[in-house]
Amino acid sequence: MGKQAPIGVFDSGVGGLTVAREIMRQIPNERIIYFGDTARVPYGSKSQFTIIRFVRQIVHFLETKEVKAIVVACNTASAYALETIERELKIPIIGVVKPGARTAVRTTVNGRIGVIATDATINSGMYTRFIQGINPDLAVYGKACPLFVPLVEEGMLHDFVTEEIANRYLEDLKKQDIDTLILGCTHYPLLRSLIGKCMGVSVQLVNPAYETAISLRELLKEKELLADPLPEGQMVHHEFYVSDGAEKFEIFANSILPYDIRKTQVIDIEGY
Ligand code: DGL
Repeated sequence: MGKQAPIGVFDSGVGGLTVAREIMRQIPNERIIYFGDTARVPYGSKSQFTIIRFVRQIVHFLETKEVKAIVVACNTASAYALETIERELKIPIIGVVKPGARTAVRTTVNGRIGVIATDATINSGMYTRFIQGINPDLAVYGKACPLFVPLVEEGMLHDFVTEEIANRYLEDLKKQDIDTLILGCTHYPLLRSLIGKCMGVSVQLVNPAYETAISLRELLKEKELLADPLPEGQMVHHEFYVSDGAEKFEIFANSILPYDIRKTQVIDIEGY
């Protein structure tokens, strides 16, 4: 695969756009093929078996686009399917959980880390495994916040209802004296200011998307796959695919990306 080939980035829906956004900012020469599984979102309440099946189909689709590497821009899919899928693939694949865990370990001072994520990510215990794999003395407190996903998808980022729900979800974590909180679901960075307000200034919020883009750049460099800049005057052209609701996806994507999407294509992912 040549270094000018695109990167495949996927999520269960729009959340992974927060990761695509970081990749666009940090490695702007890379061309992205994004897939959002909008017909089957949420993944966070599904079983590992189902998520592995979905991820296999998405990876097959991205392979038809001849991507040189894949980013699993979904915590749930990273937690449940990455270890299985990477054994089946010839191209490099990275997820968001490991980079997020690494940043949290570097960030904490008092050794007490919180993780908020979907039910599946919390139940997988992946964040705890990676964090304690680096330093077994660190304490990790997880809390599933399933309602955050639909609230973000409805655009209720600064709504008093979202704030009330955040206060309820985060009440227990606030009692654990954590100094670092991982936003362990790709939708949650969009609630950053609200969550920050609720947790207070003494708690550092970790967005795994940022570190994932850094890890991707390092990986591409190591494999000599970093894309060269395009000739003067030419722009990188990203592509966007979903399994349903292209119009809604596009409105959301255009509101958060530093890139103007003109066309989102719907594909039948069950066919892959
Ligand atoms: N993108 C998912 C994640 O990061 C959240 C949405 C879902 O449940 O599918 O875990």
